[in-house]
Amino acid sequence: MLILGIESSCDDTCAAVLSKERILSNVLSSQHQIHSRYGGVVPELASRQHLQSIHLIVSSALEKAACTLDDIELVAATQGPGLIGSLLVGFSYAKSLAAVKNIPFVGVDHLAGHILSILLHEPKPAFPYLALVVSGGTSSLYLAENYTSFQCLGRTRDDAAGEAFDKVAKILGFSYPGGPQISRSAEDGNCEAISFPRAWLASDSLDFSFSGLKTAVANYVQQEKEHRRKLHYGNICACFQEAVVEVLVKKTLYAARQYGIQTVVLGGGVAANFRLRSQMQKACSAVGIDFYCPELQLCTDNAAMIALAGWHAYRENGATHLDQDVYSRSDLG
Ligand code: KG4
Repeated sequence: MLILGIESSCDDTCAAVLSKERILSNVLSSQHQIHSRYGGVVPELASRQHLQSIHLIVSSALEKAACTLDDIELVAATQGPGLIGSLLVGFSYAKSLAAVKNIPFVGVDHLAGHILSILLHEPKPAFPYLALVVSGGTSSLYLAENYTSFQCLGRTRDDAAGEAFDKVAKILGFSYPGGPQISRSAEDGNCEAISFPRAWLASDSLDFSFSGLKTAVANYVQQEKEHRRKLHYGNICACFQEAVVEVLVKKTLYAARQYGIQTVVLGGGVAANFRLRSQMQKACSAVGIDFYCPELQLCTDNAAMIALAGWHAYRENGATHLDQDVYSRSDLG
């Protein structure tokens, strides 16, 4: 079974071809250069760029997989959550291909893709596992029971972790996306130099909150500027990053204990953060929990995870009707 996956929920145009769970091609066209000067994604520019890229990217994915559309047996595309204009480009393109070629079509929840992306390479965890999905739009904890059944145990009440990275980067004058720059700058800093707050919420809560932390960084920077003190970017980044990572790690471990789960998995763009990966690994090892983290290119948005999630959704529930529309918010949280 050859599956064509298409992802266009935000600012990356992605296409991939999978043979069941094996990646034959995984192609991405990033729009970071277009949006970097605005400090975040401009929805109108994103959808226009998707329109320009989608055909080239899909053709490139087919070519790299050494196949043609005639070989494809299932088309999967991200249905939501995301920016409506961006989603519509990939979703409509995929539906058209499926209709013209008379191939089954399946709409995929982007978050299901992130939860399952760890299954695209060895070693693969067994179900059930706990998935922490942290990206620009999501910070949620899921109990993944199987390929299509996910229970949301906690979610952010305000900013997502990646959004906090991007907003703090903007405060510091870094370009978008801010996560990679903050983690690079943090390497030169002391993560104990500044005390930034951690939002634990209620003692048994598995929800997250990062907007107070972002405000604390903004206030700190403002005060330092008022006192004409030179900003130590490395220290600010290291301390901010530590505050995010500590909350993510402790709440994930708490959830694993509460639900008796022995396997923890990361997903989403922030899962590319080395401090998060290493601290989660350390915390899991200390209590005998197995920890799995996707390869870097499978952490951020990609179409291989959409093809994989689509294949399993199709096997479980069949095809998605072509009159279905995209959605901006997901039931998965
Ligand atoms: O999953 P993703 O590619 O897109 C969606 O949001 O769906 O995630 C992008 C997010 C951005 O907020 C970016 O700043 C963050 O992931 N990110 C990182 C790192 N690399 C990407 N955050 C922290 N550390 C990183 N190394």
